[in-house]
Parts: sequence; C-alpha cells; structure tokens
Amino acid sequence: MSLWGGRFLDESNKLFKKFNTSLSFDYILAQEDIFSSIAWSKTLVETGVLNEKEQKTIEYALISLKQEIDINPKQILTSDCEDIHSWIEMNLIEKIGELGKKLHTGRSRNDQITTDLKLWCKNKIQILLENTLNLQKSFIFIAERNHDVIMPGYTHLQRAQPITFSYWCLAYVEMFKRDFARLKDTLKRLDVSPLGSGALSGTAWDIDREKLALCMGFNSSTNNALDSVSDRDYVIELLASASISMMHLSRFSEDLIFFNSSESNFIELSDSITSGSSLMPQKKNPDALELIRGKCSRVYGSLFSTLVLLKALPLSYNKDMQEDKESLFDAIQTWNDSLLISSLVLNNIKLNKISCYKAAEKGYSNATEVADYLVKKGITFREAHHISGKIVLYAIHNNKALKDLDLSKFQEYSHLIENDIYKHITLEACIEKRVSKGGVSLKQVKKAIKKEKIRLNII
Ligand code: ARG
Repeated sequence: MSLWGGRFLDESNKLFKKFNTSLSFDYILAQEDIFSSIAWSKTLVETGVLNEKEQKTIEYALISLKQEIDINPKQILTSDCEDIHSWIEMNLIEKIGELGKKLHTGRSRNDQITTDLKLWCKNKIQILLENTLNLQKSFIFIAERNHDVIMPGYTHLQRAQPITFSYWCLAYVEMFKRDFARLKDTLKRLDVSPLGSGALSGTAWDIDREKLALCMGFNSSTNNALDSVSDRDYVIELLASASISMMHLSRFSEDLIFFNSSESNFIELSDSITSGSSLMPQKKNPDALELIRGKCSRVYGSLFSTLVLLKALPLSYNKDMQEDKESLFDAIQTWNDSLLISSLVLNNIKLNKISCYKAAEKGYSNATEVADYLVKKGITFREAHHISGKIVLYAIHNNKALKDLDLSKFQEYSHLIENDIYKHITLEACIEKRVSKGGVSLKQVKKAIKKEKIRLNII
C-alpha cells in the first residue's frame, strides 16, 4: 500500500511505480531513518500525540527492526515500497498495528529525507576525516624513512631544481591538511537539523525543534522550513570537498605513475597493488593509481550533476531532488576507497635512491645555482641568468654535467667564476641553501616532519 493512497482511485502504472521508487538506493538510509523516527516519537510525547507507553512501544519496535536490518540490510530490497520512509513505517505497522500509524503525525517525508541524509553525511564525514588523517600519517612515515633521498623537482615536466622525496611527501600533506579543514567546515554548516520543518512551512504541532535537534546530535536546528526542505547545499559542499580531494589524489597518482615508469624508475610499487599484462610478462602496471586518477572523473560528475539538478529548481521540495542520492553515495564511497588505496600504495612503496639521484644530476637542475653564485660576485641576476644559460648550452652540446666542466671553460663565460664554483653546484648544496620557511633544506624538512608528527599525534 502506498502512503498516499486515500486521494487516488486508480492503481499506479507499473512502469511509473518502478520509475518513481527510490528504495533500491535509499535503503542504505534505514538506520538513519529509524534513528530520526525514534527522536520524532519522543517529540510526539511532548505534544500529547503519544503517551509514554505508546512511545516506548514504537521505540522498541523500531529498535528490533533496526536489529533485523543490521543482520540483513538487503531484505528491504524485496519490498515494493516507494522509499525507505514508507518501508520503515509499513514494517512498524506490521509489528505493532494501528499505533504505528501515529508516528508520521506532524512530519513529512520532505523533512524526513533531508534529516536522514544529513545524518548519513555526518557519519561518513567522520570516517573520511579519519582516513584523510591516516593518509597524512602514511606520507609522514615514508617521508621520515627517506628524508635524504634527492630527486629532481619538475616544472612543465622538465627537471627544474633538486628536491627530496620527503619534501615531495610534505607537499601532499599540505594538500590533505586543507582537505581535512574543508571537510570540517562542510560538517559545521551541515550540522543543523531540518526535522520538524514539515512539508515546507513548519509543523502544526508545537514542538521544541531545538531540543529535537540536540537529541539527534545536531548542533542546532534550521531557521526556515521553506529553506530547510529545499536545501541541498550540504550535498554540493560535500561533493565539492570530495572533488578537490580527488583532484589531489589524482595528482598524487599521476606523480607516482610517472615515478614508477621505466623512464623514471624512481620507485617500485608493491606487487600487492599492481597487476600484470596477460600478454607481456615483463609488465607491472600501476592499476591502483590509474584507477584513482580515473575515478576522480566520476566524483566530478556527481558534483556537476547535483549542481545542475538544483539549478533554477523552484522552492521548495521537488521530486527531482530524489536524484541527489545515487551520485552522492557513489562519490563518497569512491573518495573513501581512494583514500584507503592511496595509503596502501604509499605504505608499500620502494625508493630507488640511485635513479633518483642520477636523474636530479642530469637535468642541469643546478643552473640556478650558477646564476646565484654570479649574483653573489656582484652582477645582476638577469646578466647572471644569461651567462648561466650559455654555460648550460655548452654543456648540453658536449653532453656534460655542469660539475664536469673545467674551471677554464667556466671562466670563458665569466672571469668572476673561481674554483669554489664546484662546491656551490652540488645537489646537496642546492638543497641546503634553501633554508627559509617552506624551503627544501634537510633542516627545514626535519623541522616540518617533527611539527606534523606532533599535530598527528604520532610521536
Ligand atoms: N524519496 C524521496 C527523496 O529522496 C523522499 C521524499 C519524498 N517526498 C515527496 N514529497 N514525495 O527525495
């Protein structure tokens, strides 16, 4: 039986019924619907709709229903109910008879669905926050183990200046710190209960909505019922947070795919997260990372589809809004899985120190140092840059590293260059010079790692 049968004379068309139902995906909100229904039943006692005994009967029946769902959540899917709200109500009525029909007094599925969805988001956000922190910990552990591994840093995918692997790790820690803060911020705005908004203009029963909100663990209750049932900002914000974090994960994946390529050979990925080729026995493909890079697109898709879904949608609730869920559920699952897989990849990575060092040596990544050296000898940076460029050009043509050029060759380009040039252009010297805040020097990196370990409580 549908929840709204009274006004209708004819049965629903079968095709429409199938088209209209959301049970196949909103069944995962069963626990949240029971939770908010129990809170609502308590509120109904205050209005006199239920007496204490009736409320307890409803609460116990809902708890026993919850236990049944815990054992087999998919049993819900065998029903032809329209959505999870009608399924819970129908089952409650089956358990306790007529009394169950009182529960929906004063509420609407419009405030019910957004309450359930917010509760679901709150639970997921806690898990995502924890996994974002865990990923940061993985970065710090591997950074500490490899704090002195020198590798090339890139711009335009060209070797630019030497960095260390730990410094690269710390760059990602910064990104995931911002993701963490964004998620916390999303949670702060989301943590407002819409329950008691009714269909769109508030409930006709004199209830204490603030008390109801606190009883469900929300921070407060919403101010305007019309807005409350129309609002899906929190879905968009959560998807935006997911999209930004997935973007970070995709850049991380791409960096590692490149580091793992035969051309770079900076790292080796563990067998446990790579796959082989069915044809070419030598292959070890970075599938986990390629999938994260690829899955980023479906999370962006969810964000875009929800933005479009809500664009110009008139107030207040419209059935269009039922379409917010599948993509949200999928995006959150994808994001969480990607965070977990990224930690797994990092924890099992092996660095090839020698290849990293050799690559950093090869790319003339110390050319800036020659220019800085000349500046210290009193010429302008522009002029020094030009001289250094000429020296690099000579070295490229003669297939030599800068450190392998004779002093006399350097002096052909500038008489200011002396024998001390060699100690200024070692990779170690390039790194050690960058001691100011945010720089790559080992001292700064060690300091940063220590600070992060305190923050992450892993001392
Ligand atoms: N399944 C609906 C949704 O997900 C629940 C709200 C239904 N409200 C309504 N007035 N039909 O949005």
